[in-house]
Amino acid sequence: MTHISSRFKEVTMEEIPDITSDMVDKLRKLNINSVYQLAVQSPLELAMVISNAYFDVESAGKLIANARKILTENEILSKDFSTADDLLEKRSKISKYTTGSSNFDTFLNGGFETQSITEIAGEFGSGKSQICHTLCAAAITLMENDSLDANDNGSKQRSPGSIIFIDTENTFRANRVYQIAEQKNLEPEDILKRIYHCNVYSSEQLELLVDDLPKSIEQYNAKLVVVDSIISLHRAEFSGRGTLAERQQRLGKMLNKLRRYADIYNIAVVITNQVISYADGSHPGFDYMKAAGGNIVAHGSTYRIFLRKSGKNRVATMEDSPSQPYQRVKFSISESGIQDVTSYKTEEENSGW
Ligand SMILES: Nc1ncnc2c1ncn2[C@@H]1O[C@H](COP(=O)(O)OP(=O)(O)O)[C@@H](O)[C@H]1O
Ligand SMILES: [Mg+2]
Repeated sequence: MTHISSRFKEVTMEEIPDITSDMVDKLRKLNINSVYQLAVQSPLELAMVISNAYFDVESAGKLIANARKILTENEILSKDFSTADDLLEKRSKISKYTTGSSNFDTFLNGGFETQSITEIAGEFGSGKSQICHTLCAAAITLMENDSLDANDNGSKQRSPGSIIFIDTENTFRANRVYQIAEQKNLEPEDILKRIYHCNVYSSEQLELLVDDLPKSIEQYNAKLVVVDSIISLHRAEFSGRGTLAERQQRLGKMLNKLRRYADIYNIAVVITNQVISYADGSHPGFDYMKAAGGNIVAHGSTYRIFLRKSGKNRVATMEDSPSQPYQRVKFSISESGIQDVTSYKTEEENSGW
């Protein structure tokens, strides 16, 4: 019998209200093996993959709702309507993963949050991947305490949390994480063992990977999922105007799924995004930058950070946050990853916002 594994409470699929063993079998054949994996499905998609009497859209919806219900009853998931104090309680379960750059972590109100998608947008070389690498090195030690694993004979043992790194630009470098960890006096060998990296080469492969992510999150006990970048493959493959609507729809679906995973598994999701430049009629000859992906990506992420170069340093601006004001922070990139800018000696740096 498949239990919800790793740190999750053990609720079995058989306990879902109104489920039959036949349905459980059918779900398992689809490789949906836990209540969590069922709870993150969308009714329409589930109905589409199983076309038989059990699973029209309505009954698929009911089944998913029942999976969510049992998670709610076990206080793993918050109710559809929650009182504000319940929401506060849910927020108290949030973990924040820090980079070790204290200015940057303060800028993030303590770190990259679970139950959220944080988007980092910026032009080529602005430091998006460096932030992801630094986070990988620094965050793992914070994932040790909140993960208890139940092994087969029922006794509890520690299962350290891990990171899933989805790399669409082939820019992840294990030796860079090693270097950052070493500089921070952490344990590089241990850290690298807990980063599960995957190169992705097509938008379709990325979408399939995102579909199947719940299994990997459970298997590896992931607490953080990085997608660097969320948009590059879709931008490259859906380039003509005629394909824009389809691209946006596909991006929207992926972001929706990532948001559900962040919420249900209490994980942090960090995505990077590219920028597009546009001309503003009121300032002829001057190009502005904005994050790619339009409203779909803007609304899909909880926090939106915009990066730009400023002399030797970088400036991050919090463009969108449910709880913080518009603000910005300066940082630099060094051997130890992203770093506080401590000296403001030169005129260029002082005025370099
Ligand atoms: N070991 C290092 N020491 C100092 N700076 C580095 C190091 N590695 C990368 N960088 C800086 O990071 C920049 C690349 O940032 P990156 O995060 O890859 O950009 P992107 O936003 O395109 O992902 C390089 O231009 C370089 O300035
Ligand atoms: Mg990059």
